[in-house]
Amino acid sequence: MRNQPAAKIVGTGASIPEKVLTNFDLEKMVDTTDEWITSRTGIETRYIVQDGQCTSDLGTEAALRALKDARVKAKEVDVIIFATITSDVGFPATAVFVQKNIGAHNAAAFDIQATCTGFIYGLEMADAFIATRRAKTVLLIGGETLSRITDYSDRNTCVLFGDGAGAAVLQPSDDDRGILATYTRSDGRLHNLLMMEGMGTKNPPTAQNYHEKMQYIQMEGRDVFKHAVTCMGDAAEMILVKAGLSQADVDLLIPHQANIRIIDATAKRIKLPPEKVYVNVNKYGNTSAASIPIAIDEARRNGRLKQGDVAILVAFGGGFTWGSAAVRF
Ligand code: UT7
Repeated sequence: MRNQPAAKIVGTGASIPEKVLTNFDLEKMVDTTDEWITSRTGIETRYIVQDGQCTSDLGTEAALRALKDARVKAKEVDVIIFATITSDVGFPATAVFVQKNIGAHNAAAFDIQATCTGFIYGLEMADAFIATRRAKTVLLIGGETLSRITDYSDRNTCVLFGDGAGAAVLQPSDDDRGILATYTRSDGRLHNLLMMEGMGTKNPPTAQNYHEKMQYIQMEGRDVFKHAVTCMGDAAEMILVKAGLSQADVDLLIPHQANIRIIDATAKRIKLPPEKVYVNVNKYGNTSAASIPIAIDEARRNGRLKQGDVAILVAFGGGFTWGSAAVRF
């Protein structure tokens, strides 16, 4: 562990769409029950965008809130990294729309796509930009409108996903607070267990590919579940070693919010009691790259995460990708 971290989070913000989709709404759409969804996933509600709203709209709101929280002006931002699997358009990057919307005209802006682990990959990049003095101020956003790629006739997936965005502003650290360690991994051999096959160059948006529903998330839930439990547990253990921390040093585990049973298994693996685990999957469902930054912002605002606290972030997603970070706030 470094004594003085290179980069620290100096502000956070989030944006959740207004429209709520409850388990009871879903009962009217597919053959499911509130009882099944809550007992198998822990999810009760999720929020989804209205017609015309897109990922950069949520990302812009989260970014403006994070900049305000950090008391940093948009023109001070050197780099904007947007982690998403639901970009506004094929190209350019969603990050450039945020750049335009907030007036961050001095920044380089680009997207990264590491599915649900996107925020952790982005945190590692932001830390590297600042550690190597390529940038002083990095705006990192995780944002998704998964409702646009969800098949609301498929009960295996449509009960799980929600929309939202979270953002963090990072700057050089001048004390013991900041990114203590990061860990990222992927395994492309297992890509077929969780993917959206269409809309890219392999399966372009033809009538036939639409007919085969390639524009939607497809998932082998049970297999993904098993890998998520193993990889998130591994990543949580690994980050403690990398950061030189023991369980007792951890104030809060902030896991990717996909399923309460995966969250519980991860906490158990590193022997953390429930009061040290942040859970909001019941409210927002799985928001992929947005889930960790939304949770960080919420935990800071409701007092679960205080200045000086050590948090462990851990995520897993399609690819597969997985990773973790240790952060002193
Ligand atoms: O973001 C990271 C990536 N995603 C994840 O981490 C998600 C990982 N997977 C999961 O969270 C879980 O596997 C699910 C929540 C998706 C499914 O839970 P499960 O306990 O693994 O259920 P299952 O897939 O084994 O299905 C059990 C039964 C099946 O019926 P049969 O074959 O036993 O008759 C399903 O057809 O539950 C049925 N089922 C449902 N029933 C009511 C599946 N979805 C539903 C539903 N409502 N929405």
